[in-house]
Amino acid sequence: MKKFYVTTPIYYPNDIPHIGHAYTTIAADIVARWHKILGENVRFLTGTDEHGKKIQDTAEKNGKKPKEFVDELVPKFKEAWKKLDIEYSRFIRTTDKDHEKKVQEILQKVYDNGDIYLGKYEGYYCTGCEAYYTEKDLVDGCCPIHKKKIEVLKEPSYFFKLSKYQKKLLDFYKKNPEFISPNFRQKEIINRIEEGLSDLSISRTSFNWGIPLPFDKKHVCYVWFDALINYISGADGFWPADVHLIGKDILWFHVVYWPAMLMSAGIELPKKVFAHGWWTFNNEKISKSRGKVINVDELISIAGVDAVRYFLFRGTPFGEDGDFSEQALIDRYNNELADKLGNLISRVAALAEKYELEQTENKLSKKLKLKEIEKHFEKYEIDKALNEIFAFIDVCNEYVQNKKPWETHDKKILYEVADSIKAIAILLYPFIPSTSTKIAKQFGFEIDYNEIKNPLKNNKIKKAEILFRKIEQ
Ligand code: MSP
Repeated sequence: MKKFYVTTPIYYPNDIPHIGHAYTTIAADIVARWHKILGENVRFLTGTDEHGKKIQDTAEKNGKKPKEFVDELVPKFKEAWKKLDIEYSRFIRTTDKDHEKKVQEILQKVYDNGDIYLGKYEGYYCTGCEAYYTEKDLVDGCCPIHKKKIEVLKEPSYFFKLSKYQKKLLDFYKKNPEFISPNFRQKEIINRIEEGLSDLSISRTSFNWGIPLPFDKKHVCYVWFDALINYISGADGFWPADVHLIGKDILWFHVVYWPAMLMSAGIELPKKVFAHGWWTFNNEKISKSRGKVINVDELISIAGVDAVRYFLFRGTPFGEDGDFSEQALIDRYNNELADKLGNLISRVAALAEKYELEQTENKLSKKLKLKEIEKHFEKYEIDKALNEIFAFIDVCNEYVQNKKPWETHDKKILYEVADSIKAIAILLYPFIPSTSTKIAKQFGFEIDYNEIKNPLKNNKIKKAEILFRKIEQ
């Protein structure tokens, strides 16, 4: 059985999950479910990134110990993923014992290979980003992302010889042009590497919420060095990952630090890192301080789970930025899920119940571009796959409209459309699993990619509840 391994970033549990976290997690679930219906053995890893200064500071502000603080937030992530129908294989926490052990094991390996040395870090650090900056990155002495005065660190630190991997990384990208995806993000990374890589400070002594270095327990491991290793700790025999899905803001960590760490430890590299764009909310940057955050419960309350899963991948090309608005979601829900998909199902089910079906060759399904949908999925063009499926829904609706089976009572026409609905529901399953499962029950087929080609056997289709009740405004 072919294996497939997909991951999401592990999220900082410093607040409840919002649209940004939901986006990558739903994307990973879509990709995972796609490979599941293809019959593959799929592993899907998500979780939380719990160490580091940012979590320690936030916990303190809330008057809690870091572990106590994250223990209260982790269930919020798990609940959110349950509500969004996320079917992960494991929820990993960087405070899990097996992960802590793996981090120490890899640190020791890199150390034994001579790639870690003791020095002193003197420079800038933004705790909000958990990232190091140089003078030229700063904007008026502030972090370019958080626009807050940057912290100057001066402390003993172990360094990872990142500079040693400069050429190796560039060679690797050349040999693996698909590694950094989408491709247009590659140039910027290469340019930055060509400017020169400095060694990376990978330990801190000024606080203690982290994994102690195995060779010097006074130091705790830099949170990113710790976090990236989750992909290995949670792999359960599936390493190397087929794809790490991430946001564009954390591409550097995933395509520079991570491969270099793996090269040093002598571990195989992941096959692909795919960076998606960022969501704005009513055209404004999502920002906690200005209250422009939309959390998972709010998202779901607008038009239900499937509407969210559908909307986020419908209009916005996966890989590019998108704007979220409640109105845009409601419009797509009403015009596409209710009017196009919902109507097709209810209309055909009602006619099939009344006049029954007669099995025949499904010529209508020749208009379904299956090969193209497969190709889109292979390239993570999730939005394009969805677009193709909806183009076929339009074709089916037109077919019904033109053939008027309510007048002709033509059982063969009804069969063709019912059999096409089978294909539609199977293909939509990764996006809207609960709706697809309902359709599969109603029309009597299994959610399995091979079933698209097998003729629908059921002749006892019944009307059922309305799938998408229109939202009146
Ligand atoms: N803990 C690190 C990841 C470590 S992975 C080894 C981290 N966590 S995070 O909680 O800050 O962010 C996680 C993800 O959420 C990132 O991929 C980021 O791109 C994504 N998003 C946060 N806000 C977002 C939007 N407004 N839009 C889309 N995604 C965004 O970084």
